[in-house]
Amino acid sequence: MKPFSYLVVLTIAAFQTLCVLAEDQTSCNPLKNTTCDADPALGTEHTWLFNSTLDDELWDMATGTLDYTDEGADFKITKENGSTLLQSNFYIFFGVMEAHVKMAKGAGIISSVILQSDDLDEIDWEWVGYNTSQVQSDFFGKGNTTTSDRGGYHPVANADTEFHNYTSYWDKDRLEWWIDGKLMRTVNYSEPLTVYGKNYPQTPCRVKVSNWPVGIKSQSTGNIEWGGGLVDWSDLPFTMTVQKIRVQDFHSGKEYKYTNQNGTYESIKTVEGNSTAKAEINKKPAETLSQKWDDLGNGAHIGVYCGAAAAGLIIFAAFGWWCRRQRQKGRLQRGLDNGQRSEELDEMNSMKNKWRSSQWGQTSYQQVR
Ligand SMILES: *[C@@H]1O[C@H](CO)[C@@H](O)[C@H](O)[C@H]1NC(C)=O
Ligand SMILES: *[C@@H]1O[C@H](CO)[C@@H](O)[C@H](O)[C@H]1NC(C)=O
Ligand SMILES: *[C@@H]1O[C@H](CO)[C@@H](O)[C@H](O)[C@H]1NC(C)=O
Ligand SMILES: *[C@@H]1O[C@H](CO)[C@@H](O)[C@H](O)[C@H]1NC(C)=O
Ligand SMILES: *[C@@H]1O[C@H](CO)[C@@H](O)[C@H](O)[C@H]1NC(C)=O
Ligand SMILES: *[C@@H]1O[C@H](CO)[C@@H](O)[C@H](O)[C@H]1NC(C)=O
Ligand SMILES: *[C@@H]1O[C@H](CO)[C@@H](O)[C@H](O)[C@H]1NC(C)=O
Ligand SMILES: *[C@@H]1O[C@H](CO)[C@@H](O)[C@H](O)[C@H]1NC(C)=O
Ligand SMILES: *[C@@H]1O[C@H](CO)[C@@H](O)[C@H](O)[C@H]1NC(C)=O
Repeated sequence: MKPFSYLVVLTIAAFQTLCVLAEDQTSCNPLKNTTCDADPALGTEHTWLFNSTLDDELWDMATGTLDYTDEGADFKITKENGSTLLQSNFYIFFGVMEAHVKMAKGAGIISSVILQSDDLDEIDWEWVGYNTSQVQSDFFGKGNTTTSDRGGYHPVANADTEFHNYTSYWDKDRLEWWIDGKLMRTVNYSEPLTVYGKNYPQTPCRVKVSNWPVGIKSQSTGNIEWGGGLVDWSDLPFTMTVQKIRVQDFHSGKEYKYTNQNGTYESIKTVEGNSTAKAEINKKPAETLSQKWDDLGNGAHIGVYCGAAAAGLIIFAAFGWWCRRQRQKGRLQRGLDNGQRSEELDEMNSMKNKWRSSQWGQTSYQQVR
């Protein structure tokens, strides 16, 4: 094949991959459809620092893009009706989600970090942009939105300019919302608000993080009022920042399956095995030059030294010959000018440090209980 044909084939392959990814995003409701795929499990605990590019095997940018800075990832609304949504490709079946967030300020703008299942159970943190000293807690069961009386309102100082620790704890008996280590709210499995368990969130959830406008004309009047009125688009951009998110799965399987359509936790089967998310998290990073060298072992090192010495001798001889010629031409100085080496070393060291700091995040937190 000619190089041009390769290019065409590669481009088509890339588009096919994109289409497959786009299809995956439309989620299949297992209470309405018996042929939905199983949910891939997280099956472990991990902290993602949002100050460097997220692994796109684990996180899917459904709409918008992220701007990475030293302190985290900016979820920005940069144009009228724009929004930004990031979702995990993995699910947890009960667990903990700890998000460190600065909300976006502005009437009609909603910053949210939620857990949501395929049959629309939901556990929410929502910041409504007109009030920067408050966060709301909420939950849904099986997408039931007939009443909107489940929200909780919690004071939090300077939610738009300071990171706070918003943690949701979720097991089969209760839901808890914590801010900066303080328990703000508990919902039990069986109480009137959960319709005695029927609307209690209890199916495997993925993490969704978004910044979106509720204050637009196509929304319901109720929603627009909840958001504090219509968005003033002359205030663009609206920015929410996520510093880090810790997610802990209380099950440790490979995937989660709905065995029937009653939507209870008893109906969810945990498939044994190692999750692909766990393998992805623990995969070895691309080795740096110095690590590759260390991996070779002593025998190989000696071989390489000998080879290098031989090559060195040849180069030395050639260099001597070349010098003699250059001296005659007066270009020796330019030939010796060689500043590249130290730049390469700097880069190698900074890669190593990056890897070390990403390891640091995994071990330093305690569980809620
Ligand atoms: C059920 O899910 C399968 C797999 O995701 C999909 O192909 C099919 O169209 C869905 N059927 C309905 C009625 O939603
Ligand atoms: C990300 O943040 C962590 C912890 O705050 C820090 O150690 C690390 O150097 C930062 N990484 C980058 C690429 O800024
Ligand atoms: C939906 O929730 C309301 C109360 O919030 C409850 O009265 C109703 O029975 C629920 N519907 C279903 C199908 O669970
Ligand atoms: C903002 O939230 C705080 C704390 O919950 C509350 O006291 C205050 O009334 C709210 N302000 C507005 C304008 O709703
Ligand atoms: C965030 O809050 C949770 C719940 O109180 C706690 O377990 C966790 O250690 C806190 N994280 C940090 C970094 O302090
Ligand atoms: C939740 O259950 C605990 C006991 O486990 C009880 O003390 C508390 O009052 C219950 N809360 C509600 C809102 O029912
Ligand atoms: C934004 O959405 C509203 C409907 O909610 C529509 O009237 C308006 O034209 C949209 N603006 C743009 C720039 O798409
Ligand atoms: C739902 O299905 C599970 C698994 O078969 C069963 O154990 C449970 O009793 C069912 N619950 C309801 C409310 O139908
Ligand atoms: C899971 O991984 C462990 C080690 O990482 C391995 O020993 C075990 O065989 C794996 N289990 C399965 C079912 O693949």
